[in-house]
Amino acid sequence: MASSTAASASLHRCLLLLLLLLPFAATATVTHRHRLPYHHLASLDVSEPPTTFFEVDRPIRPPRGSLGPCSALLLSHSFGFTYGQPPVTAAYAPPACLAGARGSGSLALAVLEWSADCRGRQFDRIFGVWLSGAELLRSCTAEPRAAGVVWSVSRDVTRYAALLAEPGEIAVYLGNLVDRTYTGVYHANLTLHLYYHPAPPPPQQQADLIVPVSRSLPLDDGQWFAIHNATDAQSKKLSIPSNTYRAVLEVFVSFHSNDEFWYTNPPNEYLEANNMSSVPGNGAFREVIVKINDDIVGAVWPFTVIYTGGFNPLLWRPITGIGSFNLPTYDIDITPFLGKLLNGKEHDFGFAVTNALDVWYIDANLHLWLDHKSEKTTGSLISYDAPALVLNVDTGFSGLDGQFVTSASRHIVVTGSVKSSYGEVTTNFYQRFSYVNSNVFSKNGTVQVVNQTIDAKSGVLAKDASAVLISEEVHRVFPLHVYTGTSDQVGDDYSLISFVKLGVNEKKTSGGKLGFSYSSLRNAQSAHGSMKVKKNLVAGGLGETHEVYKYVGTDGCYFRDVSSKNYTVISDQSGDSCAKKAI
Ligand SMILES: *[C@@H]1O[C@H](CO)[C@@H](O)[C@H](O)[C@H]1NC(C)=O
Ligand SMILES: *[C@@H]1O[C@H](CO)[C@@H](O)[C@H](O)[C@H]1NC(C)=O
Ligand SMILES: *[C@@H]1O[C@H](CO)[C@@H](O)[C@H](O)[C@H]1NC(C)=O
Ligand SMILES: *[C@@H]1O[C@H](CO)[C@@H](O)[C@H](O)[C@H]1NC(C)=O
Ligand SMILES: *[C@@H]1O[C@H](CO)[C@@H](O)[C@H](O)[C@H]1NC(C)=O
Ligand SMILES: *[C@@H]1O[C@H](CO)[C@@H](O)[C@H](O)[C@H]1NC(C)=O
Repeated sequence: MASSTAASASLHRCLLLLLLLLPFAATATVTHRHRLPYHHLASLDVSEPPTTFFEVDRPIRPPRGSLGPCSALLLSHSFGFTYGQPPVTAAYAPPACLAGARGSGSLALAVLEWSADCRGRQFDRIFGVWLSGAELLRSCTAEPRAAGVVWSVSRDVTRYAALLAEPGEIAVYLGNLVDRTYTGVYHANLTLHLYYHPAPPPPQQQADLIVPVSRSLPLDDGQWFAIHNATDAQSKKLSIPSNTYRAVLEVFVSFHSNDEFWYTNPPNEYLEANNMSSVPGNGAFREVIVKINDDIVGAVWPFTVIYTGGFNPLLWRPITGIGSFNLPTYDIDITPFLGKLLNGKEHDFGFAVTNALDVWYIDANLHLWLDHKSEKTTGSLISYDAPALVLNVDTGFSGLDGQFVTSASRHIVVTGSVKSSYGEVTTNFYQRFSYVNSNVFSKNGTVQVVNQTIDAKSGVLAKDASAVLISEEVHRVFPLHVYTGTSDQVGDDYSLISFVKLGVNEKKTSGGKLGFSYSSLRNAQSAHGSMKVKKNLVAGGLGETHEVYKYVGTDGCYFRDVSSKNYTVISDQSGDSCAKKAI
């Protein structure tokens, strides 16, 4: 093991999970921890049409008056045995219409579209798409069926305009394993769609430069950093241009293997008392800490994305879990720290995860705005308050039954100023987090109920002597309820009943020189199902999911109410009217 490469070590871990978790007698409550592929007992009727899987989201609409799209295929590949192999790469050249738009008009909207199909049996696989080292999309594949599945996901990538305008390299890492049991090969196309304003260009909002905070090629893995445990910290040294006047770090996060269901993990003392050393523990709280040198500049209390095989794979067919095809990213405004970074020297941008178990994939894009009228900006940190995390766990258990209530809070408030040719601007950035998790085991540990709420507020206020330039506030609340009940366990065969409710409630307001905007999103999923598991494969069962998505914003509205059962959409209503009556 000591001499094995990182890639083969993590392949080993993957097999450990597959082979060892189930046979333990005391692991009845944790059998749901797998992403399970479906065992196709039904006849392999390949003449059936493929099923289309989808994540509910509002459509991305080009701005009024814009032209396009002009579309360019960036990469097309079949991901067979790609685990531990170098990412698939392709040279990127800015599409001709983008060059044209730069000359006369400007980019109005850029959309990156991943579309893929797969047939056979396969796990859900995490993948990442990078352009010149900057991550553009983090996503999870759909699990295939014998007759095949197709799906697509689109992400608005307009904020990477500076990167899209330069030649570069596209890289995609999707670590897939193919053998006689897991036969699915993922065939995928990656396409860029561009819309542009004929002229004149609207005020510039996107950064002038995007600096990746990720691992550089060549690699036999994704360009993300892997965080393996609670003391692991990964970082990259970077220097920033000396005329930077604004900086925002956009963080990508996903959790896997022993931490895929971190919010269900019991404390270690419970596992030790019950001799469950192979079951993931460290309790149910996690947070990503982002540091520059020794300063904590921000944190991410991540949304509990459930991948397409999570708890019961039949829950997510064809409506996939919120965020699973398009994982959310998290912005941390580091402008107040620029005073410490504008010295032309390299600084250490690092990530760690509180209480982490193997493995978290994290990287970030640093969006920088540059002063075009001067070669040097200067800054200073005015105030900085980042007290330690407050974390409490109430523990009570007897044998395999018990109740654990975990609560946590943290805040970070920082103010700094930057002097550029645009004047002296003072920027205040804050984050306020709170979290509560209740984890109850009953019926001799065969039933587990988890209720959790993450509440995350953040805001930016930038002003000069005469006016407010930027004022943004984002309030996100992530409710989660998970019930799992295991029965009829004999060896590694068992039945599982599961209920999952999860949601994203998000309110955003922004003001300042770009004008006022507001949006409110309520996105809620409620899913339940049963399944029989034989030899690590789902041998039968049924899943039902209901999702209600309501978006109201100054940029438009969108509503969808959709239900599915046993692979079939049974009701589906949607609309984009902002009138109350339509909702
Ligand atoms: C509880 O579960 C454990 C481990 O699976 C088992 O050994 C024990 O007999 C069970 N107790 C009861 C009362 O069912
Ligand atoms: C990818 O593009 C090719 C060529 O247009 C097309 O034949 C194929 O069906 C596409 N595959 C997917 C999964 O979209
Ligand atoms: C944590 O992970 C790092 C990086 O993989 C490793 O060097 C270190 O030994 C690990 N620490 C523990 C306590 O396992
Ligand atoms: C755990 O293992 C130890 C040593 O093998 C044993 O003495 C103890 O009874 C076990 N406890 C339980 C709850 O199985
Ligand atoms: C957990 O959430 C469910 C569903 O929202 C609710 O019915 C239940 O009462 C909650 N339980 C606890 C202990 O908060
Ligand atoms: C689910 O759908 C399949 C066909 O796709 C059908 O054979 C099966 O009977 C259905 N199961 C239930 C419980 O409705």
